[in-house]
Amino acid sequence: MNEVLKCIATRRSIKGYSDRMPSKEDIDLVIKAGLEAASGLNKQAPIIVAVTNKEVRDRLEEVNGRLYNKSGTFYGAPVVLVVLAKKEAHTYVYDGSCTLANMMLAAHSLGLGACWIHRAKPTFEMPEWQEWLKEIGITEEVEGIGHLVLGYPSGEYPKEKPRREGRVFYVD
Ligand SMILES: Cc1cc2nc3c(=O)[nH]c(=O)nc-3n(C[C@H](O)[C@H](O)[C@H](O)COP(=O)(O)O)c2cc1C
Repeated sequence: MNEVLKCIATRRSIKGYSDRMPSKEDIDLVIKAGLEAASGLNKQAPIIVAVTNKEVRDRLEEVNGRLYNKSGTFYGAPVVLVVLAKKEAHTYVYDGSCTLANMMLAAHSLGLGACWIHRAKPTFEMPEWQEWLKEIGITEEVEGIGHLVLGYPSGEYPKEKPRREGRVFYVD
């Protein structure tokens, strides 16, 4: 198996992190992988907001938990890469998903852990978070696609999850 396939096969969603902050260099490599994702008509609709500020990270987790009726939904990860996408591109949700997938693999290749955390859409529909987007300079109409929480895994690395059978059809 080549290195890319090995990385794909061994990536897991990490659901426990130490509070050690990844280097800016590694965070930027993960972001770069996200920016390199394919996009419909090459519109490059996704936008990535890299949150390392603890107060903002905690506020995002609090609203995420409120939407899910659960606490600790970011699993202690110190970094949140929020993926939003400009709605003008008709494939914006798919584009944002490609961005998140690339970043998950890049994180794993660098020895970092990552997990897609849902509920970015309702979070960034809230007036206070729309206002926050404007404050940081995002003025276009965007939709929240997903949060990628990022950091160093703590505890045991998750076991491989068997993939369901019967999901591939060959037409020769
Ligand atoms: C669209 C999407 C949304 C997800 N949302 C969450 C989430 O909100 N919380 C969470 O703990 N994991 C979330 N995950 C991670 C899944 O739980 C995980 O991908 C799945 O259990 C398979 O495990 P694996 O990624 O290790 O193969 C999400 C994954 C995807 C693709």
